[in-house]
This record gives sequence, structure tokens and C-alpha cells, in this order.
Amino acid sequence: MKKSIALLLAAACLLPVPACAQPVEPDLTGYAAGPAEIPKEILGELDPDTLENLVEEPKYVALTFDDGPRADTTGRLLDGLLERGAAATFFVIGEQIPCNEELLRRMKAEGHQIGNHTYSHVRLLKADKDDVVEEVHKSETLLQEAVGEGSFWLRPPYGLIGGERAKLVHTPMIYWSVDPQDWKLLDKDKVVAAVLEAVEPGDIILLHDFYSTSVDAALEIIDKLQQEGYAFVTVEELFRIQGVTPQAGTLYARPDRVRGLS
Ligand code: NI
Repeated sequence: MKKSIALLLAAACLLPVPACAQPVEPDLTGYAAGPAEIPKEILGELDPDTLENLVEEPKYVALTFDDGPRADTTGRLLDGLLERGAAATFFVIGEQIPCNEELLRRMKAEGHQIGNHTYSHVRLLKADKDDVVEEVHKSETLLQEAVGEGSFWLRPPYGLIGGERAKLVHTPMIYWSVDPQDWKLLDKDKVVAAVLEAVEPGDIILLHDFYSTSVDAALEIIDKLQQEGYAFVTVEELFRIQGVTPQAGTLYARPDRVRGLS
């Protein structure tokens, strides 16, 4: 129904409105079936790009950034996201929170999701169970002090955590479904190309706001995919849109794809 209303509004803007016209309840039935029902005279008025955006199903994708916050690169990324109306998710390292609390408050205020990437970026796969709990908890405390209460979903460093240790995690855990290896490439064009080649609606894309080349790549990826009708949402929003309720201690590559734990 939303699409129908959008189409009608777009159509209404293009039609001359007689002065003092009596309000008439719009007949939406002709639009309900989709693009084939748009009257020819209106089709003729719309440029192809506008028409494509009107008739396409929305495509949602989540950009995620690990290993920050870092004052220069993360700040520049937030500027770029704001300019583009794009939301993202940041899995931050606890050690890097002191002195960067303002960046975290900005993330929250500007509609981004903040997640936990442990306190000191440890490998959780073989860590002592006490260390797992402490690494998660220490970061959580710092996050709460900076931005207030919340559920800070975990991205295990390197995406690695075993089944036994996952039971100690009381939030959902987020892996990824697109990994351009930006930390290794350190090349904007190659990172953009790798993401554009792989991306599909519903994907969770892994990047690192720690690197300037990754920030450049992210902004170009947003520009290009927005032109293709993609909208950038947080991971939490992606789950909501897909109607999936994430479970604590489960590792998700996408809302519709659980990653097995060893
Ligand atoms: Ni990391």
C-alpha cells in the first residue's frame, strides 16, 4: 500500500490542480497492481530514474564498521553518512573508547547502532571463560557510561567464538555476509569493486573505520548502491525489516543465515 501511495503522490504532483477543487477520495485500486497500472499519460511525464525508484522494491543492506572508534577516520565517516542519510553499525573496541566518547554519542544521536567488539580485540575461541565474560563486560560498561543503557550486540574479533563460550554472551552476535578484506587491500577502488560485485539485499557488509581507504570506499559504496535503490540501515533494523527476532548467543551472518559454532 505504501508503494501505491507514493505513486499516487508522485502522479498528483505532475497533474495540474484546478483552483478550489473539491477534495475527492482517491481511487487507489488502479495502482494496487503495481507499475503496469500507471496511466500512460503519467508514465510519459516521469523520467526513467524516478520511475525505477518508484516501482522497485526497497533493497536494504547493513554496513558495519569494526575496530574503531578512531578520532579522524570515524569522524569523517560520520560526516559522510549524515550527508547521505545512511545508517550504519559500529562494533567498537573498548580500549579505544576513552577520549572518543563524543564520537559514540554522535553515533547514537545520528541513528547508528553501536555494538561491542570486546575490550582488547581478543580471540574468544580459546580464551578462558572468565576472560570472555570480562572482555565483553568491560566494553559494555564503558559503552553504558558513554551513551547510556542499551543492548550492545557482540561481534567477536575475527568472527571467532566457540559454542561453549557463546553461551556466556547475553546478546545476539553478528558475523557478516560480505567481506571485501578492506584491511588487507587498503585500496579504495578495490574495496568498492569487491563489495559491489558481491552485495545482495539483506547483506551485512564488513568494513573497518580504522582505515582512511575504507572510509573513502564506504562513502562511494553508499553513493553507488543508493543509485541502485538500496537503503542503508542498522543491523538491528535489518532484522526488524526481515521479521527475524535475533537470539542471544547466536552468531548471524545475515538475519536469515545463522553461522554454525564449533
Ligand atoms: Ni576487529
